Amino acid sequence: MRRLSRTPPRSFHAAASFSALTTEYRHTPVLLAEVLQHLSPQPGDTIVDCTLGGAGHSVAIAKAIAPTGTLVGIDRDAAALTAAQDTLRLGQQATRTVLIQGDFRDLDRLLAESMVPYANGFLFDLGVSSYQLDAGERGFSYRADAPLDMRMDPTAGGISAADVVQTYQESDLARVIREYGEERWASRIAAFIVAARARRPISTTTELVDIIKSAVPAAARKGGPHPARRTFQALRIEVNQELTALEAALRSAIRWLTPGGRVVVIAYHSLEDRIAKQVFAELARTCTCPPDLPKCVCGVVPVVRVLTRKAVVPTPAEIERNPRARSAKLRAAQKL
Ligand SMILES: C[S@@+](CC[C@H](N)C(=O)[O-])C[C@H]1O[C@@H](n2cnc3c(N)ncnc32)[C@H](O)[C@@H]1O
Repeated sequence: MRRLSRTPPRSFHAAASFSALTTEYRHTPVLLAEVLQHLSPQPGDTIVDCTLGGAGHSVAIAKAIAPTGTLVGIDRDAAALTAAQDTLRLGQQATRTVLIQGDFRDLDRLLAESMVPYANGFLFDLGVSSYQLDAGERGFSYRADAPLDMRMDPTAGGISAADVVQTYQESDLARVIREYGEERWASRIAAFIVAARARRPISTTTELVDIIKSAVPAAARKGGPHPARRTFQALRIEVNQELTALEAALRSAIRWLTPGGRVVVIAYHSLEDRIAKQVFAELARTCTCPPDLPKCVCGVVPVVRVLTRKAVVPTPAEIERNPRARSAKLRAAQKL
């Protein structure tokens, strides 16, 4: 964990070394009005944005909690934090700001080390930002030729996408591509990857895109999304272990909430959405004792109230303005 600042300084030199730092950070916040409605930030609140990204949501949250509130912004990507720092400063909010580089899977430790005593709200806007996709050299995009990396925090070590395609057994590759990419051609793509890497190492996005294109039958490629989109998404989720972090982080977040505090999750993948839905449903369970028992014996006490019976999705107008919103699903819960 690297804590970047307590208040936005005049000049800030990040420890990050990406050339991506020079790329302009643009990310249109998804479901912004709906996030504010369900998070309901009030002046003086402490709100933790666990996926700060370009601070699109955080700028609006900072306005709502000013002048005495505290905004805590977490991101595992140092380049995102650097850009967000500038955006928040330009937003000119008199809000106290704490920016933390780290993985939200370590939420308890990150908040304790930053001496955040409690929170009135948490936001998780999952996945990858437009900036990360557009910074071609990071290897997230199938449209730019780059080393196959895809790590959100390359400084933390860990495996890259090249390591996955080079070393995973065919069955594991197929599982990752099928489950995380929801790709019907997963087995074929995995078989083609294994055959290609036996000839020579696969180390760039372009090499992988060509292999995927040869694996997906021409008829299936017509009219749909780019044939590599689902496989790239799957590799990104595997490399960054995105699904394993979420459940633990949500449970931690709910522990740090004050009564009445809220947690909002925007998911872009059905498995992520299912995790949010299940954690909220489990923590919202009420006493299951038969009504004629004089007192409760099951001991189940609800911890939260679910605020979204069905997931909130973007309007067609928002999807037209911002196509990256198309798969978004928002769920929210309130601590009792
Ligand atoms: C969709 S973007 C957030 C965009 C932001 N809400 C905005 O409006 O600008 C997701 C961000 O979360 C970060 N992220 C993803 N998984 C993370 C994790 N486990 N811990 C910390 N940050 C994470 C990514 O690096 C990325 O910057």
